[in-house]
Amino acid sequence: MRLIAMGTLLAASVLCCAADSGAGGASGGDSGEARRDRMVVTQIEARGVDQPCVLDAMRSIPRERFVPAPLENDAYRDGPLPIGHGQTISQPYIVALMTELIEPQPEMRVLEIGTGSGYQAAVLAECVADVYTIEIIPELGRQAAARLDSLGYTNIHTHVGDGYDGWPDEAPFDGIVVTAAPSEIPEPLLDQLALGGRLVIPVGRGSQDLVVVTRTEQGLEQRVETPVRFVPMTGKAEQ
Ligand SMILES: C[S@@+](CC[C@H](N)C(=O)[O-])C[C@H]1O[C@@H](n2cnc3c(N)ncnc32)[C@H](O)[C@@H]1O
Repeated sequence: MRLIAMGTLLAASVLCCAADSGAGGASGGDSGEARRDRMVVTQIEARGVDQPCVLDAMRSIPRERFVPAPLENDAYRDGPLPIGHGQTISQPYIVALMTELIEPQPEMRVLEIGTGSGYQAAVLAECVADVYTIEIIPELGRQAAARLDSLGYTNIHTHVGDGYDGWPDEAPFDGIVVTAAPSEIPEPLLDQLALGGRLVIPVGRGSQDLVVVTRTEQGLEQRVETPVRFVPMTGKAEQ
């Protein structure tokens, strides 16, 4: 049986993938460390994210390594950035929020749908035991795998394919983070959620909500966290 309980819909509209607010931009000659610290203080902590591993991860991961070279000076801006193929690296705050919403613990195994640049996977990998991430665009998937490898991540497992079906051979997952929006939650992802696990997913075409689904003893509990704007999930989700 499924228990569906709708929760709080926050008023703030959050741009995560399709636009750039333009704040917090150029490096101004600061070190990467100083830029990351300013990003965490002004964009992440200021909006209420306080999970220590999330803040530590975002203070340590060189986000400029995840954006195209001409955009390196914009890597710590308060908005998404293009990464090619019509796709984006999400706004830093959204990466932090989605990571916090799965309630990360060191022993967890987490699935991400939409590897993109690999940045969200890297943040997750600082907080949990293993990250499994799927990207549908082969070139992006290959680039992200090489980037994560060069940064020394051994607990991120990459795959090129349609994430609609999840990763059945590695299921169940303690957390699932989806960074592209389907119009409805893919059933295979719900099936691959472990007891006590959380799925964080943008849902909708046009207007979208960030939805958190938790698997409990009683079934699936669902709440809406906040309005968002993500690129659409492609592949089977479009059929
Ligand atoms: C907002 S971007 C990813 C941001 C990424 N998490 C990051 O940190 O850079 C969404 C990604 O989802 C991918 N995507 C869209 N539909 C997908 C699907 N069905 N399966 C896997 N990846 C998908 C897109 O190609 C794109 O790279």
